[in-house]
Amino acid sequence: MLSTKTHRHLLSLDELTASEIRQLLATAIALKGHRLQLAQGQVLGLLFTKPSTRTRVSFEVAMAQLGGQSMFLSAEAMQLSRGESLTHTARVLGRYLSVIAMRTHAQQDVDLVAAESGIPVINALTERFHPMQVLADLLTVQCAKGQLERLTYAYLGDGNNMANTWVLAQAILGLELRVATPPGFAPHPAVLSRPQVVSHPPQLYTDPLAAIDGADVVITDTWVSMGMEEEADERARLFAPYQVNAALMSHADSDAMFLHCLPAHVGEEVTEDVIEGPHSAVWEEAENRLHVQKAWLATVLGGA
Ligand code: CP
Ligand code: NVA
Repeated sequence: MLSTKTHRHLLSLDELTASEIRQLLATAIALKGHRLQLAQGQVLGLLFTKPSTRTRVSFEVAMAQLGGQSMFLSAEAMQLSRGESLTHTARVLGRYLSVIAMRTHAQQDVDLVAAESGIPVINALTERFHPMQVLADLLTVQCAKGQLERLTYAYLGDGNNMANTWVLAQAILGLELRVATPPGFAPHPAVLSRPQVVSHPPQLYTDPLAAIDGADVVITDTWVSMGMEEEADERARLFAPYQVNAALMSHADSDAMFLHCLPAHVGEEVTEDVIEGPHSAVWEEAENRLHVQKAWLATVLGGA
């Protein structure tokens, strides 16, 4: 069983130990397809300042499958948009809700809501981290390959929230991760300097071929994360050599799997033939958001 501390938050993946991640993946598999009443009478609030398809829907469905309810709280529709502070908002929401999943720009804002709300808070994506997505990615690898270890992981593209979270995952689990980014776009220095990462660093490259050579798992993400739209043209030019296309994939292992958290920009970071091709596991990966989030909610709310 995962330890359920009071107000157990998931703000960053390194709040979990390797054995807790493994237990969470096992719980996700065990609960797959099951409807339970573990969260009966409990309400999840989804406090979002950015768009979402997968995260919102998978959290709402997860909560429904646990017998609870959820409420989508767009910041635009709240008094937040008229200047009410996040601190006051968090204190009030904590008196109604059982758990909050928050998607926003600054990691500090999610940390603040965790500190002020008095209820468990889940990071549903910040510009720094996307922990639920990487847990879903790990579940996808576990189900397809039967193991997480003895595999080579290659992340190509932007050193963004996905890359940062994969850097934490490889350190916690002792995996072999290679990250290839253009110069100046490596994962965040504050992530690379965490003691756990210093003890088990990823291999950083600027050459995509060096990173993908023989890889078992190939991961990419958009070159233009939410909030970076003004940099789109510059990024398209800088990131072009990191496009995951058939030529680049031919350097990976012949059984390599391709992961992308979605939404994908087909023709930019990935080509149609790769995302629709035999290596792609992106639809299973998207489905696994539901399973890992249901497992986490069951743990936090229902003591699963
Ligand atoms: N992968 C992911 O978080 O997707 P959404 O932005 O649609 O939630
Ligand atoms: N890196 C992307 C992930 C989207 C799910 C972003 O932050 O927009």
